Amino acid sequence: MSASVRRRKPENKSNAKIGIEQPKNNKDKSDEQHCCFKCFSALLSTLAVLTTIGLLGYYQAPFTAVPLENYSVQVKLVGLFSPNNKLSEATRITGLSGPECILEDDKGNLYTGLADGRIVQIRPSSKGHIGAGDIVNVTSGFIKNIPRAMEHVNHGRPLGLRRRDQILYVADANYGIYAVNIRSGEVDTLVAVNDVNPPLALTDDLCVSKSGKFIYFSDMTSSYKLDRLIYANLEGLCKSRVFQYNTESKTVRVVTSSLCFGNGVQLSEDENLLFVAEPTSYRVRIIDMMTWKTVRFVDVPIMPDNIRSTGQGTYWIAGSSLWTSSYGFLERNPVVRQIIAGLFSYKNLERTIPKYSMVLEMTEEGEILQSLHDPTGDSISALTHAVTLSDGRLALGSFKDDFIAILNEKNLAIGLA
Ligand SMILES: *[C@@H]1O[C@H](CO)[C@@H](O)[C@H](O)[C@H]1NC(C)=O
Ligand SMILES: *[C@@H]1O[C@H](CO)[C@@H](O)[C@H](O)[C@H]1NC(C)=O
Repeated sequence: MSASVRRRKPENKSNAKIGIEQPKNNKDKSDEQHCCFKCFSALLSTLAVLTTIGLLGYYQAPFTAVPLENYSVQVKLVGLFSPNNKLSEATRITGLSGPECILEDDKGNLYTGLADGRIVQIRPSSKGHIGAGDIVNVTSGFIKNIPRAMEHVNHGRPLGLRRRDQILYVADANYGIYAVNIRSGEVDTLVAVNDVNPPLALTDDLCVSKSGKFIYFSDMTSSYKLDRLIYANLEGLCKSRVFQYNTESKTVRVVTSSLCFGNGVQLSEDENLLFVAEPTSYRVRIIDMMTWKTVRFVDVPIMPDNIRSTGQGTYWIAGSSLWTSSYGFLERNPVVRQIIAGLFSYKNLERTIPKYSMVLEMTEEGEILQSLHDPTGDSISALTHAVTLSDGRLALGSFKDDFIAILNEKNLAIGLA
């Protein structure tokens, strides 16, 4: 209707004034206006559709996204971080689903926790070759009659392992903290998920002081559990905690909170510092154990996961999901994070995670000495763990792959300072 009104007006005017040339001019003008209107209405409809989709996503999202206090820093892949293929050419120990964490005992046995909740022991071959022997069950993966973080999942999910003599200490995403006697397989629950308030949502990693008196462990999220981890990331809450468990008094207390996805935890050699990985912030936090104050943030190009001593005074940081500018954009735009969570299925969100895997060597002061890359994730994806074996090789764990990768490179240079 408004179109015809617009068309008529100039015609009337020109007829009243002069002759023959005008109408052509008018026709051009009205065509132009008509076209403009078409474009405008097309734009309007597109905007309307986009707004509807946006609103739909926004209101369908399972959470309200919040702004972040700090944004992650892009660490460019240059200098020490230049891409290489140092993580390729690894051999595999197969038949292990999601071996997130790996440790070796003093007899060359490896231990890892699996997606079905079991902890298994991988024996050396009869010739003493580490990782080449039988795989035997240490636990069944089930602990009866204790509360679970994920009610609908009836088995555990061991993510962090430490050993003292014949005892394995386990951080389990579903069960909390427990100890396993390696010989008998007997399980002793130390911190159940309901023993703290709010309850543990995602117990991720732990470390034990040399005296055995204290266990430090991380609870990664405050709302979503392991099976909806990406939602917790998009939501943007930084309410992750690190606890101290006293094995003598059997008491537990929060030592630091307000972390962003507190993940891998590692004490320094002198136990004066605690390194905590904060994957969604692409950094490692260094905490002074005397004051519990953060003394340094170390920015890294991947989401850091477990941190372990190299045995040479430095630390391996393993991680995956290379930082992207889209990630930086999402951090700054909570509304977009919320819309995306409402529009896409969880499976599709998982597919967007970049496959890049990386291991970094860091000094106690937080200086990065070298980086080992697997740009395609073909050698190992969803990398969570790197640990030096007693034969000098580097074992790599993954949250998703169904094998442990062991780098063939026997004389991996460590402590390049
Ligand atoms: C944000 O950065 C400041 C300064 O480095 C730090 O004190 C604070 O703890 C950080 N907040 C979070 C939630 O990480
Ligand atoms: C370990 O446990 C799994 C799952 O219960 C079972 O299928 C497998 O046979 C067990 N392996 C051994 C060596 O007993």
